[in-house]
Amino acid sequence: MKRRKFLTDTALVSAALSWPWSLDSVAATKASYLELVAKQSRTKLLAEPNRFTDVWTYGETQPGPTIRLKQGERVRVRLRNQLAEASSVHWHGIRIENSMDGVADLTQDAAAPGKTFEYDFVVPDAGTFWYHPHTRSMQQQARGMYGALIVDEAKPVLVDQDIVMLIDDWMLDQRGQILQASFGAMHDHAHGGRLGNWLSINGKPTPYSQTVVSGQRIRLRLINVANSRIFPLGFSSSIQPWLVAKDGQPVTPRKVSEQDLLLAPGQRRDLIIDMQGKPGAHAELQLLLEDSQLDLAKFEYHPSNKTKQFSDIEIPSLARNPLAKSIDLKKPLRREINMAGGAMGGLRTAYYEGKPLSVKELVAKGQIWAFNGVAGMPEQPLFKAELGRSIVLQFDNQNSWPHAMHLHGHHFQVIERDGVATGTQEWVDTELIAPGERLSIAFVADNPGKWLIHCHMLEHMLSGMVTWFSVS
Ligand code: C2O
Ligand code: CU
Repeated sequence: MKRRKFLTDTALVSAALSWPWSLDSVAATKASYLELVAKQSRTKLLAEPNRFTDVWTYGETQPGPTIRLKQGERVRVRLRNQLAEASSVHWHGIRIENSMDGVADLTQDAAAPGKTFEYDFVVPDAGTFWYHPHTRSMQQQARGMYGALIVDEAKPVLVDQDIVMLIDDWMLDQRGQILQASFGAMHDHAHGGRLGNWLSINGKPTPYSQTVVSGQRIRLRLINVANSRIFPLGFSSSIQPWLVAKDGQPVTPRKVSEQDLLLAPGQRRDLIIDMQGKPGAHAELQLLLEDSQLDLAKFEYHPSNKTKQFSDIEIPSLARNPLAKSIDLKKPLRREINMAGGAMGGLRTAYYEGKPLSVKELVAKGQIWAFNGVAGMPEQPLFKAELGRSIVLQFDNQNSWPHAMHLHGHHFQVIERDGVATGTQEWVDTELIAPGERLSIAFVADNPGKWLIHCHMLEHMLSGMVTWFSVS
């Protein structure tokens, strides 16, 4: 069946089977409809034939289907929960209507086992986004529940191939099964989170193989879907990527820096690369280790077929999305978030569920991190803002660990790092903060509702690093 026809007729359901999609594959539909079935499944994470890993998925594949939409399109997604526990779906980075944000107990009741939840929303921004559970997400995401959500620009960006890479980090035992004992280990929660021992790209073992043609211009969308691992990424020397977007939001194209490629959980980077190797050659996406590199993906040049369609054209600037034109910083609402706890963090006490607890008592409740002396979701929001108000949040990372701070429903700009103005106006939704660092971010509270602020290292979130704000 022709993809275009399939899309207009019914749904995006089989998207994963044929991705990466070519750019002309998205038909203009009024409201696309898709069902995501959350279920137990198995997949081939390992290279050995006949060895499967039990996972949880959205639908038949791990990762779940790539949902491909057009900017401004409306989509309806039914979550059908066939798991033995409740679930909900969060559309990471989509500036969504609050009731569709997928945060169990804040924006919706989770879908109980056997039940469904209907999501219905519009995607205002073109770019690279993704979806994952926001109910017991530490377990559900780690077991394989996630997928890419790609929103195409109104005016197509001219590339020969559009490639999505969801990069994950699994904790497997010797039989290749997810190690049960790796969930809820307080030692991990107090350190860098639950780090795995097995990497995958798009659910395949690494190095993931990607065919390219000499002379092609590719768009590479990197998405970190790991629970907690930060990926320091790099490329073999023949590849010179241009950064065109961060977290779904366009930047003025520039040569990608090492800092840009230090990919924290939740973050995305869109790169445009002219593939200039010879037919039959190869090039690599690498994980940079202390004194070596690990090949994550191998770009294998087709032995023949030289194409040269777009690589002479200037690297395109993506059209900006309809975010606030500017942030009025004359009288913003200011809040500080002191981030404390973890191993070697010296946390003595924090409030949890309204009561002051000692560290020992906190740990007994699975808590070890605190924002402003409060562990876990506070009853009261960190702040309430009227619609349209400028907000400046200062994150003060007073502990020994890096954190990936994520805001729901809004993108923000990093305006200061350790008191020094950054001068950048790039929008992001997740930012890495180094130990001891102070970071100020600014945004316009232009989306009404209740929104989370949390560390996207899922063990840190679960063990305390989460709060919220409201906009009305
Ligand atoms: Cu990827 Cu609370 O989000
Ligand atoms: Cu963290």
